[in-house]
Amino acid sequence: MNIPNNITNICCIGAGYVGGPTMAVIAQKCPEIKVTVVDINQQRIADWNTENLDKLPIYEPGLKEVVQEARDRNLFFSAEVDKAIDEAQMIFISVNTPTKTYGVGKGMAADLKYVELCARKIAKVATSDKIVVEKSTLPVRTAESIKTILDAEGKNVNFKVLSNPEFLAEGTAIDDLHNADRVLIGGDQDEDGLKAIQSLVNVYSHWLPLERILTTNVWSSELSKLTANAFLAQRVSSINAMSALCEQTGANVDEIANAIGSDSRIGPKFLKASVGFGGSCFQKDILNLVYIARSYGLGEVADYWEQVIKLNDYQKRRFAEKIVKTLFNTVSGKKIAMLGWAFKQDTNDTRESAAIYVADYLLNEQAELVIYDPKVKAGQIYTDLDYLSTRSEEENKRLITIVNDPYEAMDDSHAVAILTEWDEFKAYDWKRVYNCMKKPAFVFDGRNILNIRIMDEVGFELYTIGRG
Ligand code: UDX
Ligand code: ADP
Repeated sequence: MNIPNNITNICCIGAGYVGGPTMAVIAQKCPEIKVTVVDINQQRIADWNTENLDKLPIYEPGLKEVVQEARDRNLFFSAEVDKAIDEAQMIFISVNTPTKTYGVGKGMAADLKYVELCARKIAKVATSDKIVVEKSTLPVRTAESIKTILDAEGKNVNFKVLSNPEFLAEGTAIDDLHNADRVLIGGDQDEDGLKAIQSLVNVYSHWLPLERILTTNVWSSELSKLTANAFLAQRVSSINAMSALCEQTGANVDEIANAIGSDSRIGPKFLKASVGFGGSCFQKDILNLVYIARSYGLGEVADYWEQVIKLNDYQKRRFAEKIVKTLFNTVSGKKIAMLGWAFKQDTNDTRESAAIYVADYLLNEQAELVIYDPKVKAGQIYTDLDYLSTRSEEENKRLITIVNDPYEAMDDSHAVAILTEWDEFKAYDWKRVYNCMKKPAFVFDGRNILNIRIMDEVGFELYTIGRG
């Protein structure tokens, strides 16, 4: 197989939260490599090509500067999928792999139809040897299926499949890519496999030291991604479990996090109690892991990881219940301001955001919600609620109001609920907010970001997660 040591042409299929930023950084750091990002969604491609860099389809701190530097130099966004595939020596598959919503494995297994379509497309279009890189998170042993599909066309073209899972976190994607703790590349341990691994190592070594580029066999690489996300989510569920106990006992969850995080074996990160984790990866990857474990007959392993999700659902429900209970057991007709809709700060992504579940719960109790998020568009909020709820679109439209001004959201409200840890929430004029709210004025801080002392002084009834 023809495997160049130094790649000069890369194609990435999928211009989403992973493909877009990752390819932008590869193009920025490897100016001699032509990087073309393609997508079947033509609007998305048009958005990536926008003149106004503030209107890129994805919001990530530092992204627009990277795109500005590389776009139209060696970074291209194109809807000409076939052409880009055929010209490339290395093709990244970076399409979405949501949880299946139908058939066998519904609600658990990853839906691989988009990945399979990509593999079929590559097999059909390719006229020269290709290295195909799995970037999307996939169940262990997917590379094998991809390889089977690629080879099935029976053309005189060779393929090598690598696994190169993405570990970037949204909101810090550019920094995570620039200063990755590690890059993981899995490949076959035969001669061509090792050559393919090396050619990808050579891409990343443009800016990362070699000791941070780890190479493994394909299956370890695939399973490492699921394992990393499961461990991270488990930490959040672990501290959230303790938060419930803290509230009963008068202990303070932040003090506990600090105390245990000082143990170098535990470490301080990912110990922030919250209304629950969200995002496109944690729940999906754990469900996937649970499904795989169960399908190999490993019931205890599956149950163990499933508990992380159950605890997260419990935490979201507990927060919503707390609001209703505190507001004298009824929120019907009461105005509640929701600050934040994104699943975490510094992103406009709302997938699996705790805010959606809390809003749905409160709407079932007939609350009037007024929602503000600095980056999420109104249309997305409606879509998220319509997807989850049993109410009609019209009913959701009638029950919620979406505003561009946070003070308008809080004006005359019975309660404020903070769902995302946006920095700007800390800097609000809380005295002014207090004066314009109904009394007693309640704040439910689902992210524990507000200064308790100041809120006390102002006069709020404050609920923060994990404090008795
Ligand atoms: C995650 C992984 O971190 C990343 O490596 C992987 O590539 C994709 O999945 P992401 O989902 O973008 O990244 O965000 P992350 O920072 O991991 O946060 C996930 C959720 O956990 C967010 O809702 C966040 O608010 C929550 N969280 C995180 C907490 O509630 N407490 C914490 O201490 C940390
Ligand atoms: P992620 O967070 O994994 O990046 P996104 O949903 O943000 O997920 O992005 C995935 C992108 O992949 C979407 O823009 C979608 O249109 C694109 N996509 C899905 N299937 C294909 C395909 N067969 N060919 C090209 N692009 C695809």
